[in-house]
Amino acid sequence: MGDFYEMFYEDAVTASRALDLTLTSRSKDASGSRIPMCGLPHHAADGYLARLVEKGFRVAICEQVEDPKKAKGVVRREVVRVVSPGTFTQTAYLDDRAPTFLMGVVLQTQPAASREHDRYGMAVLDLSTGEFTTAEYDGDTGRQALRDDIAMLRPREVLLSSEDDLRPLLPDAPEPAITTVEPWTFDVDRARDALTEQLGTTGLDGFGLDNRPAAVAAAGAVLHYLRDTQKAQLQHVRSIAFRHTADAMVIDPSTMKHLEVVVSSEGTRKGSLLAELDHTVTVMGSRLLRAWLLRPLCRLDEVHDRLDAVEELAFRSVERAKLREVFKSVHDLERLVARAAMGTAGPRDLLGLQRSLATIPRLRAVLGPLEPPLLKSVCAQLDEVPDIRDAIEATLVSEPPALARDGGAIRDGVDVQLDELRGISRSGKEQIAAMEAAERARTGVGSLKIRFNRVFGYYIEVSKANLHAVPDDYHRKQTIAGGERFITPALKEFERKVLGADERILEREVRLFDALRDTVGATAERIQETARALARLDVLTGLAETAAVYDYTKPHVHDGDELLITEGRHPVVERQAAHAFVPNDVTLNATTHQVILLTGPNMGGKSTYLRQTALIVLMAQIGSFVPANRAKVPMTDRIFARVGASDNIARGQSTFMVEMQETANILHTATSRSLVLLDEIGRGTATYDGLSIAWAVAEHLATDAGARPKTLFATHYHE
Ligand SMILES: Nc1ncnc2c1ncn2[C@@H]1O[C@H](COP(=O)(O)OP(=O)(O)O)[C@@H](O)[C@H]1O
Ligand SMILES: [Mg+2]
Repeated sequence: MGDFYEMFYEDAVTASRALDLTLTSRSKDASGSRIPMCGLPHHAADGYLARLVEKGFRVAICEQVEDPKKAKGVVRREVVRVVSPGTFTQTAYLDDRAPTFLMGVVLQTQPAASREHDRYGMAVLDLSTGEFTTAEYDGDTGRQALRDDIAMLRPREVLLSSEDDLRPLLPDAPEPAITTVEPWTFDVDRARDALTEQLGTTGLDGFGLDNRPAAVAAAGAVLHYLRDTQKAQLQHVRSIAFRHTADAMVIDPSTMKHLEVVVSSEGTRKGSLLAELDHTVTVMGSRLLRAWLLRPLCRLDEVHDRLDAVEELAFRSVERAKLREVFKSVHDLERLVARAAMGTAGPRDLLGLQRSLATIPRLRAVLGPLEPPLLKSVCAQLDEVPDIRDAIEATLVSEPPALARDGGAIRDGVDVQLDELRGISRSGKEQIAAMEAAERARTGVGSLKIRFNRVFGYYIEVSKANLHAVPDDYHRKQTIAGGERFITPALKEFERKVLGADERILEREVRLFDALRDTVGATAERIQETARALARLDVLTGLAETAAVYDYTKPHVHDGDELLITEGRHPVVERQAAHAFVPNDVTLNATTHQVILLTGPNMGGKSTYLRQTALIVLMAQIGSFVPANRAKVPMTDRIFARVGASDNIARGQSTFMVEMQETANILHTATSRSLVLLDEIGRGTATYDGLSIAWAVAEHLATDAGARPKTLFATHYHE
């Protein structure tokens, strides 16, 4: 209402509590009781929205949808948008370096078939960037993998069909908001239609979604929900990727946690592998590096491509420094283009987008002579989108206001009509200024002033002492402490000109700005491609920087079987250790060194040795150099890390049970290409039992005829 959003009845009571707003009341309702009400200023709405969404509320935003001046009777209002945890995209309130995911999950059962034929579909969209991916999972093993993926992706909101009971698949912490939707929103045929329409294609084969009904259904439900709640164009959601489980190394959430890949044991980014490796300059690069670490590659050629690019950039320190310098002028292009597509970008956002695009010729010049194929292809994807860059530059002033309706965002010379109106406004203001001088001369009152306020518009102010000199044609409007305020017909005539023009200037500016924003939104796809290439380049350059600064070496990643590390270090511990880190060697292979049994006293460095081995493998498979003198790393399909519960037997049976179940799970799912770390397994029980269990597990891993994963086994039992 005007410059405020207001809430009434129960909404007002709830919101006033959640936001510490004062609860007041308006008029009375039919029964004569007062109507509770609270309000918040329009310009601060995003901050309040962020707090409500953070608390898990869903907020419907109603706005006037017609001009109050032109409306007959009550001004029409409509719900323009519904904001929920998974659809809140106000960049200022999001973590720059992490995605914000809305997820849909569906179960497709076959009639009269066993649970082994269950199929799960999952789709996940980051509305703030337009990144959209989907996957399928089969049977009981699939169910477990889905649960792991959900825990890893940390969606902020999950859509479930009211028919499926999938809540057990969702993590307890951080607990996502759950939105239950009607089962038909997961209907495959509707979903296919919604997807082809959104993606602007006739079929879904091009996205690898032919014969993926569960994935399609989940993606369709996500789209349906967005259309329902956002009521805005989603031009930045123009592609979807199907994730094959086999394309990436599998690292389950407990292993991720134990290895402290993206979060340290303290729950912070600091102290994690991500924090140590992250020498990216842009937030897009930072988000992408995180995504790479959560999903290391499983294809040898892709790993080699990344490693070759990192090697070149690590070696070329001058070029690397130049690239990193240029990246400083690159904004969060992914989120800016999404804001343009959703119609929420302001003038400064578009200017940030333009300045980011303007860096591209410089980046291409640096990249030009570099040979590695991945750098060549990134360079080819960097499109400066010159039409958009030039349009923004030509339209906006160099320091525009945050909002178009604040006025002054559009340059002179862009639009004839706007220039004319500005001319009128300017000359009116000049005439008023001239009038002040003329009236001073006429009345002989040197202190006479012409001023403006929102209530009277322009007025002439004369102080008490000079009131005797006021001419007859002045009409008194108001008496104030120091004097009186007057208007004259001539002054009002100028005012009509100025104010009329000013109002039309704003209307015109907003219209021109919206048109510019729509043009940018319509090219979202091209800008996104550039943004992704920029992010990739930033990650590769960042990894090269890390390699150079921390003295890492290029691992030899191969299709064979041998894991060989000479003088390996733990990438995080070596940076934090008070004393010099003592490097260690590792040899593991399927024949002579399949299991390493590591014994030694507490605090001997066993756990660190296990983790550093896994981290080196993981780093190699994202395409990073590694902390070692030399490293031969075989392509690894899974890493498992399990730690025994603490020595405290009092922690009880359940911890021990979980530990044994997880160990059993590893014994069942590991392959000969897996790396298994077992750290003090069996600790959670009496010494003798623990030792027996540890022994049995080690023996099984070493001698079982089936899979013989490379295994590192640490125990302080050394009988
Ligand atoms: N190679 C090493 N060089 C220097 N310090 C190390 C090394 N390995 C471990 N440490 C330090 O020694 C301490 C004990 O290491 P940890 O791996 O937990 O031992 P354990 O598992 O044998 O009890 C840790 O504080 C760690 O930072
Ligand atoms: Mg230990």
